[in-house]
Amino acid sequence: KRLVVLVSGRGSNLQAILSACESGQIPATEVVAVISNCPQAAALALAAAAGIPVRCVDHRRFGDRSSFDAALRAQIDDFAPDHIALAGFMRRLTPEFAQHYEGRMVNIHPSLLPAFPGLHTHAQALAEGVKLHGATVHFVTADLDAGPIIVQGAVPVLAQDDVDSLAARVLAMEHRIYPQAIAWLVSGRLRMEQGKVTIDGEK
Ligand code: GRF
Repeated sequence: KRLVVLVSGRGSNLQAILSACESGQIPATEVVAVISNCPQAAALALAAAAGIPVRCVDHRRFGDRSSFDAALRAQIDDFAPDHIALAGFMRRLTPEFAQHYEGRMVNIHPSLLPAFPGLHTHAQALAEGVKLHGATVHFVTADLDAGPIIVQGAVPVLAQDDVDSLAARVLAMEHRIYPQAIAWLVSGRLRMEQGKVTIDGEK
């Protein structure tokens, strides 16, 4: 299968996906391109060093969201991917864009959705005093951080946590659950049908 990964920053989830493709945990799948909205993204350098084609669609060069999305879509479709994974991709997408890839595009979000959509999830979790926090992989739909949930991983919030220590614990969980969800997706076991997630033969 052909997978395109969209990134904006550091690229640790991208690295987890690449390692899982290499080890076969994500079976018979190649990351055919890594695309960023941000030219300085460390994730782009990481991909280039791994010999993966990289593209940048700099959102600052576009007057509005729909022209940016059209350019991004053209770049993605150039690589004819079966699936698209957002891995720390920090731009909101238009409903038309989400619909075009519906059922084929997944995202990882650093909270137990529907708690704490949007930004600064770890600060929000600490401010609310929740005792469990975590990460969610979901299908991308027109609603930000609200597509059908595929898998979640929970971690404890400890009394001495600050944003950094909590973020690190959640990130380690992201690196476990995202490759797993993508493995299900590329193997055809995971589908979105009428807005609901089905996973065949879940063990
Ligand atoms: C992750 O926490 C992801 O869930 C969030 O942004 C962060 C990206 O980290 N949306 P990385 O670029 O994968 O290291």
